[in-house]
Amino acid sequence: MVALIGANGAGKTTVLRAISGLQRPRRGKIIYKDNDISDMEAHRLVKLGISHSPEGRQIFSRLTVLENLLIGAFIKNKQSNIKGDIDYIYSLFPVLKDREKLPAGALSGGEQQMLSIGRSLMSSPKLLLLDEPSLGLAPLLVEKIFEVIQTLKKIISLFCWWNKMPIKPWR
Ligand SMILES: Nc1ncnc2c1ncn2[C@@H]1O[C@H](COP(=O)(O)OP(=O)(O)OP(=O)(O)O)[C@@H](O)[C@H]1O
Ligand SMILES: [Mg+2]
Repeated sequence: MVALIGANGAGKTTVLRAISGLQRPRRGKIIYKDNDISDMEAHRLVKLGISHSPEGRQIFSRLTVLENLLIGAFIKNKQSNIKGDIDYIYSLFPVLKDREKLPAGALSGGEQQMLSIGRSLMSSPKLLLLDEPSLGLAPLLVEKIFEVIQTLKKIISLFCWWNKMPIKPWR
């Protein structure tokens, strides 16, 4: 887990947007798994395993919670276990299951953050970029969000061990 820390306006969001292909770097290169991905389009980067939960959540407020999650799986084919992935997200964030059919705009700020993280997990990323996941949340919810991030890291480490891969597979 890597944290990028800086004052307001330091450029944290810009770095994340450049990595996930939403902005082009003016200088320098972005190297991922030994490849230069500086000019790659965002949707292709998702296929390479990079997923971004943006600052301010940016969920689709008129679509339901379930529809938002399904959009996160846009790179997956019909044969893949999308329902299993959704059940997994619901196990991390049970409140999303309860609100499944509600428009995402009706969720509280914390619930929208859970949905944003859930949506970015739907593509089964290898590199998950979270921009200010605790912004504007009550302390209890912040704890919950960071608990889930810890759980995800443990699961990924276990997965890497099981597959005899190094913990940082992109290195
Ligand atoms: N598209 C853009 N065009 C011009 N300037 C921009 C653009 N996007 C961001 N900036 C500027 O670049 C700087 C870095 O912005 P960025 O949003 O990356 O900061 P940040 O570290 O995420 O800040 P915060 O903690 O407030 O979220 C800011 O001065 C911002 O105004
Ligand atoms: Mg920012």
